[in-house]
Amino acid sequence: MSSKTTRRKALAGGLAVAAAAAAAPQAARARDAWADTTYQRYELAGQRGIASLQRNRRQARSPGTGEVLVRMRAAALNYRDLLLAAGQYGEPQPAERVPLSDGAGEVLAVGDGVTGLAPGDRVTAPHFLDWLAGDFSPAIFANDAGITTDGWLSELVWLPARSVVRLPERLSFETAAALGVAGITAWRVLQTLGQIKAGDTVLTLGTGGVSIMALQIARMNGARVAITSSSDDKLALARDLGAEITVNYRQEPEWQNAVRAATGGRGVDIVVETVGVATLEQSIAACAPNARVGLLGVLGGIPEQFPNLLPLYGNNIHLQGITSGSRAMHANLLEAASVNQLEPYVDKVFDFADAQSAYAHLKAAGHVGKVLITSR
Ligand SMILES: NC(=O)c1ccc[n+]([C@@H]2O[C@H](COP(=O)([O-])OP(=O)(O)OC[C@H]3O[C@@H](n4cnc5c(N)ncnc54)[C@H](OP(=O)(O)O)[C@@H]3O)[C@@H](O)[C@H]2O)c1
Repeated sequence: MSSKTTRRKALAGGLAVAAAAAAAPQAARARDAWADTTYQRYELAGQRGIASLQRNRRQARSPGTGEVLVRMRAAALNYRDLLLAAGQYGEPQPAERVPLSDGAGEVLAVGDGVTGLAPGDRVTAPHFLDWLAGDFSPAIFANDAGITTDGWLSELVWLPARSVVRLPERLSFETAAALGVAGITAWRVLQTLGQIKAGDTVLTLGTGGVSIMALQIARMNGARVAITSSSDDKLALARDLGAEITVNYRQEPEWQNAVRAATGGRGVDIVVETVGVATLEQSIAACAPNARVGLLGVLGGIPEQFPNLLPLYGNNIHLQGITSGSRAMHANLLEAASVNQLEPYVDKVFDFADAQSAYAHLKAAGHVGKVLITSR
């Protein structure tokens, strides 16, 4: 295995770093130019909650054929990272699994057969590493970064080159990381399913990562936004970000009536259903004829009584289950974000060494938008 590595790189945290391939003698290069480098990463280590996450030092390796080696600079958390850490997200994962589905960084080395990418390139990747374009297929779950394969909570990340997306020049590592799962999912609901256009009304629930991203992408498209929250302070922030209709769902449990009334009785055109089946009936009741509803969340749990779907008929409402999106959607989103200077709202940034605090911050649910982890 050989690597086209040419850079000497010191990793954060005062870790031991080997000379890179260009400086290595021929014999060492044949062995593995990165084998003497160590780096830090977090591992699930048992999935018994945030406290069981372990920061371990591991030995690096050269990128294999078709792979790139990336120095992580920014990573983002999503709700599912809490579920995974607690052992509540699908099958148990190996103790060594590196979590986090979103990140961005710079290429350190490329493996054999990689073209179009070089050390120094600034990159990210969609978490479904094998969903490059086209329709969803269940096969994509086999290679889901941060879940079924190693993710971004690591100083070094190895990725298939085919999955990697180069960052538009104007996008920072932090912006790119924030535009991962939450961005792709919101984009898919609004753009691919919703066919959003100026003047549409979009309803999104809560003020977490997906919802705030939906708000910002909807505003970028000239749409009007209705949003719900448990907190008036969070709703005030949502108004600052451009939301026009804001409803506190604690104070108004029948919030769908307030949303409908605020649209003059017509209802909304697109729903980003982050809470899930628990609020689906209410979301449908807030819909205008021909609305599009992207069902994607589980925040409200699974209710015992299934929602009444009869209004779907009379209003010709299009309901679709959503599992994030493809590399092509991700690349389109990054381009749109660059052109429109979209800055995803970031609640707080934590240092790599403080990753467990980042998880705890997300779990406390006092945040608005995204929670990030950076590594210098
Ligand atoms: N299917 C997919 O591809 C996909 C992709 C991404 C995310 N998701 C899902 O989408 C959901 C949101 O993810 P996220 O990463 O944006 O989460 P997040 O950032 O952790 O958002 C949590 C926020 O949602 C709101 N919330 C929580 N429980 C609620 C409830 N019962 N009713 C209304 N709002 C509630 C709260 O905001 P307020 O305090 O403002 O109410 C809370 O702060 C999760 O279920 C996640 O698993 C699915």
